[in-house]
Amino acid sequence: MEPEWKNELAPLLKNNEEWAKKKAIDDPNYFAVSAKEQVPPYLWIGCSDSRVPAIQVTGLESGQIFVHRNIANLCTHTDFSFLSVLEYAVMILKVRHVIVCGHYGCGGIKAAMEEHHLGLVDNWLRHVRDVYFTNKEELEKISDPRVRMNRLVELNVIRQVQNISHTTIVQVAWSKKQPLFIHSWVYDLSTGKIKDLSNSFSHIDQLEEIYRIKPAIDNN
Ligand code: CO
Repeated sequence: MEPEWKNELAPLLKNNEEWAKKKAIDDPNYFAVSAKEQVPPYLWIGCSDSRVPAIQVTGLESGQIFVHRNIANLCTHTDFSFLSVLEYAVMILKVRHVIVCGHYGCGGIKAAMEEHHLGLVDNWLRHVRDVYFTNKEELEKISDPRVRMNRLVELNVIRQVQNISHTTIVQVAWSKKQPLFIHSWVYDLSTGKIKDLSNSFSHIDQLEEIYRIKPAIDNN
C-alpha cells in the first residue's frame, strides 16, 4: 500500500522532472556547468517566510545568489549557522554584496511585539525585542500599530546590517581591502517590490568605535 502522503509530494517530483528536462533542452550544458562550481556575487539573508523567495523576487538564476534564511532575518554573533554562511560567502566565494532583506508584515516581528508565548522562537525573537527597546521612543510615537510594526521591520534590518559589519569576518575582509558592501532592503508582500533603505556599510569608519577591531592582517 502506498503511503497516504505520496500524492501530496507527487506534484513536486513531477515539476522537478519537467523543470530538469526543460533546462537541459534550453541549454544542454546547464547542469554540467552548474555541477562544476558556484560563483555568486551576492549573499542574501532573508526571512524564512515562504512568500519571500530570494531567487524569484530578484529575478536571478540558480548559482547567482547564496542564501541564508531564518525567522525575522536575524544575524547574531553567537549563531554559528549564520557565521558559517557569512564566512564561507565572504572568504571563499568572495561575494561583493551582502543583502539583508526583511519584509513588511513579518510574523516574527509581529510576534516580538506581542505577549503571547509561542515557544522556543520567543527566545530567538528576543533580539527583535532588543531592537524595539533601543528604538522605543521613535516607535511609540507611531500610533497606527501596523505602521509601527513595519518601522520595526526596517529598524530590525538596519540592526542586522550593523551586526554583520561588527563581525570579525567582515572587518578582516575590509582590512584586506576586499570590496564588500552590506545592504538594507525590505520586501513588500502586497506589491512584490523591494525598498532599498539606503543604509549600506562598506568601511570600518562607519562603525561605532567600540565595535572596531584591528585584525592582524595576513595579506596572503
Ligand atoms: Co518574516
